[in-house]
Amino acid sequence: MADVRSMCAIGLRGQLGLNGWLPWEGDRRPEFVADVERFFELTRGHVLIAGPRTVASVPDWAREERTVVEIRSHMVPEEVIARFKGRRVFVGGGPSVWAAYAHLIQVWDITRLPYDGPADRWFDPAWLVGG
Ligand SMILES: NC(=O)c1ccc[n+]([C@@H]2O[C@H](COP(=O)([O-])OP(=O)(O)OC[C@H]3O[C@@H](n4cnc5c(N)ncnc54)[C@H](OP(=O)(O)O)[C@@H]3O)[C@@H](O)[C@H]2O)c1
Repeated sequence: MADVRSMCAIGLRGQLGLNGWLPWEGDRRPEFVADVERFFELTRGHVLIAGPRTVASVPDWAREERTVVEIRSHMVPEEVIARFKGRRVFVGGGPSVWAAYAHLIQVWDITRLPYDGPADRWFDPAWLVGG
């Protein structure tokens, strides 16, 4: 079995995304910069699986240091995870991906950032208890 985890950052009310990007994209305050740096540090060398829009937002340099795999809704979550036996796999979103993979995630790493603006993608606490 793979070691299946998830790492995400949310705003004060569970904001996850806006217009295909992080709602706080471009915010250079230290806690926002540190969060992005931490994500790339902790996922380095591991597998990142995510939906097409999230994968498209991963910069080219980051693809060299980790295995980035686009997953689609016709794929069976158990079969996707089984491809990575012995590896640490981060389920990277978006929301419909977390809903479908929640029952397989053993470790959630959630950072709550001081953002209270708009969003069109939201965190659902039901994911934490298996979806
Ligand atoms: N704050 C954070 O930590 C964080 C992390 C990740 C993403 N985000 C944000 O979230 C947004 C992107 O998410 P998104 O939902 O718009 O698009 P997405 O990343 O493309 O994820 C959703 C898509 O994943 C595909 N998918 C793959 N496996 C699936 C499954 N088993 N069940 C259902 N769908 C599955 C579906 O596309 P098909 O039906 O076409 O296959 C679905 O439309 C962006 O704003 C991004 O910045 C935020």
